[in-house]
Amino acid sequence: MGADSIVFSAPGKVILFGEHSVVYGHPAIATAINLRAKCEVTKSSDKFPSLSTPDLFPDHIFTITEKSEVPIELEPFKHLFLILSESQKKIICPKVKLTSAIPPSSGLGSSAATAVSLTASLMKFYNNDYNLEKIRDIAFESEKLIHGFPSGIDNTISTFGGGIIYERGQMAPLTSKISSSFLVIINSLVPRSTKELVEKVQKKRENEPKNVQAIFNQIEAITWEAKKQIESGDSVEIGRLMNENHKLLEKLEVGHPILSKIVGIIDQTKTLGRKLTGAGGGGCIIALFDEFSTAKEVTKLIEKKGFRAYISNIFETGVKNEQ
Ligand code: PMV
Repeated sequence: MGADSIVFSAPGKVILFGEHSVVYGHPAIATAINLRAKCEVTKSSDKFPSLSTPDLFPDHIFTITEKSEVPIELEPFKHLFLILSESQKKIICPKVKLTSAIPPSSGLGSSAATAVSLTASLMKFYNNDYNLEKIRDIAFESEKLIHGFPSGIDNTISTFGGGIIYERGQMAPLTSKISSSFLVIINSLVPRSTKELVEKVQKKRENEPKNVQAIFNQIEAITWEAKKQIESGDSVEIGRLMNENHKLLEKLEVGHPILSKIVGIIDQTKTLGRKLTGAGGGGCIIALFDEFSTAKEVTKLIEKKGFRAYISNIFETGVKNEQ
């Protein structure tokens, strides 16, 4: 039987290079960021397990049983909860609280981070132990409910942290020498649907196969070059490659006027490079800086313009026990 109270946190992610082309077998690079989701589990004397999400549903506590109903946003977490509780004797009853600093629906891997922190906490609660491979795989079950056919990048990176290169279902960890650089993550606050944007690129590919293939090939070349520069620590070159990748994503028509406006603001600063991250059509821009003080100034500037901005290191820590 586990401890009285257990807390695990897990990071969100950004795609540094290769979004969209990755859907067609080209490589992509992703990194864990320092925005984290948190799960706290305590023992309860209630008859049934319960789930609260104060950020989403303040003042609500949801009972978790096969038959209980929860809002649609919480279905994937209920699903995970039931998987993890399946083989447990009913003597200990968990009370789960989920919180998150990762803005949802913005391409930052918020659902995967929540799933990973929940999985780790319940594993530890029931078994007094946890295993990273199992956490990654079980958390993937809820990602499948949300996204249909997810790549598995988000749950993998949230579990193991660091950075990965992903190609045709294979993921390999990356080592980075650019640990002294900072990312500013700017949330345009424009909602977007990954599914719709992937479909948009799919249609464009059907209509202009040669043109789109040429763009994918250029993105692939940039991604391999970026891998080399991340491993050797040339942040100036990485910034230049981010700018190039952004241009190509705009050619794929996954930009957005608000993203262009943010890029215009960022280009007036001492950024090394910037690009949209994830599906595009809204969501976030990432910008790379060599100095924390500059990143901080830019964050303030961006917030004054009405957007949200966060500073993160790259290659952050994966799921971790917070106690
Ligand atoms: O914005 P996100 O995190 O949902 O990223 C989508 C990345 C795509 O390459 C556009 C789609 C995918 O499944 O890889």
